Amino acid sequence: MPVKKAIIPAAGLGTRFLPATKASPKEMLTIVDKPAIQYVTEEAVNAGLKSILIVTGRGKEAIENHFDVSYELERFLEEKGKYKEVELVRNIAEMAEVYYVRQKEALGLGHAVLCAKSWAREDPFAVFLGDDIIFSRKPCISQMMEIFEEKKCSVLGVIEIDKNETSKYGIIEGVEVNGQLIEVKDIVEKPDPKDAPSSTAVIGRYLFTPGIMRELEQTKPGVGGEIQLTDAIRSLLKNEKVYAYRFEGKRYDIGDKLGFLEATVELALEREDLKDAFREYLNKLMAVKD
Ligand code: UTP
Repeated sequence: MPVKKAIIPAAGLGTRFLPATKASPKEMLTIVDKPAIQYVTEEAVNAGLKSILIVTGRGKEAIENHFDVSYELERFLEEKGKYKEVELVRNIAEMAEVYYVRQKEALGLGHAVLCAKSWAREDPFAVFLGDDIIFSRKPCISQMMEIFEEKKCSVLGVIEIDKNETSKYGIIEGVEVNGQLIEVKDIVEKPDPKDAPSSTAVIGRYLFTPGIMRELEQTKPGVGGEIQLTDAIRSLLKNEKVYAYRFEGKRYDIGDKLGFLEATVELALEREDLKDAFREYLNKLMAVKD
């Protein structure tokens, strides 16, 4: 069955980005002029996933407002003759069918995904984490959907990391099928580098068979007292094959301050309207620093 649905968990507290996230959702932090959650939503839509459930929590109302119609703003822009901006604003509200469910307590990523159970029903679905923004010729999730279609199994988006960074990620142990595809044999959440089975790390793109919801229902709190998606994947492996895919594209971890800055600078340097002036500014700045 083809994947048509996407879940975006956005109920986390974003403690790595305080104080910005004290009263504002980290998913609304902007890279140049677009909130992070819009980049991932666009990736989903570009891959044909137009039915999107966002898992929100208290203090995340700005996300709902962003994907809603803003009549006052549109009327104001129309009166000023700013038709390009009217279209820009309206397109956000029209690009997908967006649904919401609230996670009452931030009990972990696995718990956030489980909050979407009745919406997902028995359908396969994608999970996008707004912390990971990926730029690629073909949307990362489309690349993974090809594997899902072929193998009829869950697929995890992975990257190679420095061995000393394993305690930030879910790390897989697997058998290489080819340079990009790995059959997953085991997965561990945030292992110490000395215990990590590899340096292949799961990032925020997943495609799941409905079986993952049954595993999540049984999953007890793990690392950090949270219900971990990684633990549910580990249980899923007992019943189904799971693959990991080294996608083509550049990924930024914008939940981390350095990653956020890198994404901002590199994206600005790609933008037709900004790149020349911004490059000139950076060159001058670096000359002064040298
Ligand atoms: P993170 O591990 O990045 O957690 O969650 P976080 O709380 O947002 O951020 P830090 O680490 O404290 O800075 C990965 C994704 O899962 C969502 C987050 O919103 C983020 O998109 N999440 C996490 C939930 O929706 N609910 C949770 O209980 C935990």
